Parts: sequence; structure tokens; C-alpha cells
Amino acid sequence: MTDAAVRRIRLQEWREVRDIRIRALRDPAAPIAFLDSVDAALARSDDFWQMRAAGAAIGENAAQFVAVVAGDAGETWVGSVSVLLRAPGDTDTVGRAVSAPQADLVGVFVDADHRGQGVLDALVEAASAWAVAVGADGLTLEVHVDNARAQAAYRRLGFIPTGLVVDVDAGREIQMHRPAE
Ligand SMILES: CC(C)(COP(=O)(O)OP(=O)(O)OC[C@H]1O[C@@H](n2cnc3c(N)ncnc32)[C@H](O)[C@@H]1OP(=O)(O)O)[C@@H](O)C(=O)NCCC(=O)NCCS
Repeated sequence: MTDAAVRRIRLQEWREVRDIRIRALRDPAAPIAFLDSVDAALARSDDFWQMRAAGAAIGENAAQFVAVVAGDAGETWVGSVSVLLRAPGDTDTVGRAVSAPQADLVGVFVDADHRGQGVLDALVEAASAWAVAVGADGLTLEVHVDNARAQAAYRRLGFIPTGLVVDVDAGREIQMHRPAE
């Protein structure tokens, strides 16, 4: 099992937010995992990352959780997930109008060296607890039809396909939902 600890990001950690995002976007699975690219991320200003980190650290509509391993040289971030709250009338990750309050799990990433050790499980637990605390009925996500590893992990964690399918630039994604317990 993992020795990583999971916590919400802190206000000043915008460089770490940027760096783990760029690492995620360099993953071989990135083209089917994220609706974003390394070039686009590298082109974003420091202001962008500062705003994103602030919203995810203390915002009421977003939260980012990271798995950190403590070492002699300080903390290393080895995984991350974010939750985005959508209110009726908002659009979701793929541009659809939301009809009921929804907590979208996005930016799901675990460093290759730390996979298969329960890091994702701990991240999803933290994200789920936060989503429930702010009134959501669980977590919703979209996963690419070809992302077999992510789908298997989500199924193990209690996510169930909703039946909704969406076509994005990278191909087809299915929606999954994990009800609050
Ligand atoms: C998706 C991700 C977060 C999952 O974390 P992880 O630590 O790798 O997940 P786990 O090892 O706990 O679970 C993976 C499951 O897939 C299975 N698996 C592994 N390789 C697989 C493959 N090639 N095909 C199908 N299933 C596979 C494992 O057996 C395990 O299932 P099980 O628990 O039922 O045995 C991580 O792999 C990752 O960051 N991938 C790159 C980014 C990504 O795809 N993000 C998701 C975007 S929706």
C-alpha cells in the first residue's frame, strides 16, 4: 500500500499545481485522459496557475486534492484529482448543460511509479468526502472508452456507468457516477 498522504492543496502551491499538471499531460495515456495538451499548459501564464491554485485551495466550487510523499528533500506530489461543482444552468467538462447539482471529478492522475498502490483510492475518498460535505450526491466523471486501466480502477471504487456517452475531439467517453454512501 501507499505511504502517500492525501490533502487539499494550499493557496501558495501554484507551481506544484502547474508542474503535476504538465507531468500528467506528458503521460502516454494523456491523449485519451485529458482534454488539454502540454503545449497549451506551458503557454499559460503564472497568473493563470495562481488563480487556478487559489480556487482549488480555498474556493467553494472547486477543490484539488494531492497525494504527497514526505522525504528528506521535502514533499513530492505523486497524484492529484480535482472536483468541480456544477450548479443547474452551468456547463460540465464537455460542454453539456447541467440540470441538477453535480460534482465532476477531473484531472485524475497518479505518477507511474505509484500506481497500483491505492493512491487513487485515497484521492477519491478525499474528493468524495469534500463533495458530500458541500451537498453533492456523489461524484461524476467521464472516461475514454479506450482507457481500460482508468475504467477498471473506477469500477473497483464504485463508479457505475450512467449510460451517457459523449463524443469529444479524442473520441468517445462514457460517464460514470459514484453515489454518496
Ligand atoms: C488512471 C489512474 C489514475 C489509475 O490509478 P492506478 O493506481 O493506476 O489504478 P489501480 O492500479 O489502482 O487500478 C487499475 C486497475 O486497472 C487494471 N489494469 C491495469 N492495467 C490495465 C490494462 N492495461 N487494461 C485493463 N485494466 C488494467 C488493474 O488490474 C486495476 O484493476 P483491479 O483493481 O480491478 O485489479 C492512473 O493509471 C493514471 O494516472 N493514468 C494516466 C492518466 C489517466 O488515465 N487518468 C484518468 C483519466 S479519466
